Amino acid sequence: MRIGIGNDHVAVEMKKELTAYLENKGYEVVNYGTDSSESFHYPISGEKVALAVKNHEVDLGILICGTGVGISLAANKVNGIRAVVCSEPYTAKLSREHNNTNILAFGARVIGIEMAKMIVDSWLNAEFMGGRHQIRVDMIGDIEKRNG
Ligand code: RB5
Repeated sequence: MRIGIGNDHVAVEMKKELTAYLENKGYEVVNYGTDSSESFHYPISGEKVALAVKNHEVDLGILICGTGVGISLAANKVNGIRAVVCSEPYTAKLSREHNNTNILAFGARVIGIEMAKMIVDSWLNAEFMGGRHQIRVDMIGDIEKRNG
């Protein structure tokens, strides 16, 4: 599985640690974020990862900024993207099973690396359940079509 990862200047170290963690598990990780501590505008990498997911260059995306909020807001502006901010594994798991999220976001100023790993594992190991949840996810897509 190919995972696109993006970040701003706040999350360079967490991005690098997570990349190594995921590669060690056999995932292919594509870096769309900054590797510099110079101030970096998070919408840039939020959009890059969102487009990579939308265009099937990668299967799923992970975004990290200070809180996970700004970068996920940017990603969610791309049609077909369902990005969720998580600070614990339960929401991450349910966001895949019920909401079919295709981007996971979190904050390097909010959680530590070990919690980030648990959240990522929980999200990647979960599967969309479809059924009644598909109807609701389709309704979210309809909102995009009506208001895009
Ligand atoms: C950068 O200072 C900070 O605003 C950014 O990392 C993120 O938290 C925005 O949502």
